[in-house]
Amino acid sequence: MSTRRVVAILGAGGALGGAISARLASEADTDLVLSDMSEDSLGSTLGALAGAAGSVETMVADVTVQADVDAVVARAVERFGRLDVVIGNAGVLSPNGRIHNLDDEDWDRAFRVNVMGSVHVVKSAVGAMRSNGGGSIVLTASVAGMTAWSHAGPYCVTKAGIIELAKVAAVEYAKDRIRVNCVCPGTFRSAIHEGLPDEALDAIAVKHPLGLGSAGDVAGAYAYLASDASRWTTGSAIVVDGGYTAP
Ligand SMILES: NC(=O)c1ccc[n+]([C@@H]2O[C@H](COP(=O)([O-])OP(=O)(O)OC[C@H]3O[C@@H](n4cnc5c(N)ncnc54)[C@H](O)[C@@H]3O)[C@@H](O)[C@H]2O)c1
Repeated sequence: MSTRRVVAILGAGGALGGAISARLASEADTDLVLSDMSEDSLGSTLGALAGAAGSVETMVADVTVQADVDAVVARAVERFGRLDVVIGNAGVLSPNGRIHNLDDEDWDRAFRVNVMGSVHVVKSAVGAMRSNGGGSIVLTASVAGMTAWSHAGPYCVTKAGIIELAKVAAVEYAKDRIRVNCVCPGTFRSAIHEGLPDEALDAIAVKHPLGLGSAGDVAGAYAYLASDASRWTTGSAIVVDGGYTAP
């Protein structure tokens, strides 16, 4: 890596995107390109970055559109000359329902955003990182992709897909010195839970030995994967879940 580190984040709005952005912006010698589909969410993230150490660029981008993701990567390279880290964090929860009550559109949406969004991030990042001599790609999966949640089939299946995508990409691009990992958070409160009955969240909370976390509790895993300290870590699913998967 060069003296300055250039990081692009897709899905930089919202609870976790904001926490990851704040964490990385606080680190020395780091320039950021932050993007999200929602201009408002992006504005909130930016508003909380008053103390950013380096430069911060923002742009609206939808991860379901390859050209949008390409444009974010291109902005990073044009503005800062290189791209060291790309974080694909955009994600959607599927409607609350068992498999027989969900329709194809519920599955399509989860696949388009969670799986294909992550595929688009990997494709774009690889293109830019190969000419750098390497880099780190970090995807957001979930403990939902390692366990089975009733009434959340498309979410669980697509998050499992992201874990597998990170493994395959790690194997395919190791020779290019591109590392690919994912983070599997346990549950923390965010807008993703809007519409979920309180009882459902309470039931999830009691399954976390340390209780529900916050987005800030998870951000350190991204900082690790974005740093040289993780130089021998690839193809991993790093679990940060307050003990949810321990029993
Ligand atoms: N909250 C949790 O308990 C939890 C647990 C495990 C994993 N996650 C994952 O963390 C990530 C962030 O979720 P959050 O909980 O912070 O939710 P959030 O709703 O606060 O943030 C999600 C962000 O993703 C953006 N987004 C959605 N679709 C997009 C698209 N097509 N293109 C670009 N941006 C898009 C939204 O605009 C929003 O800013 C998601 O991938 C989610 O699945 C969340």
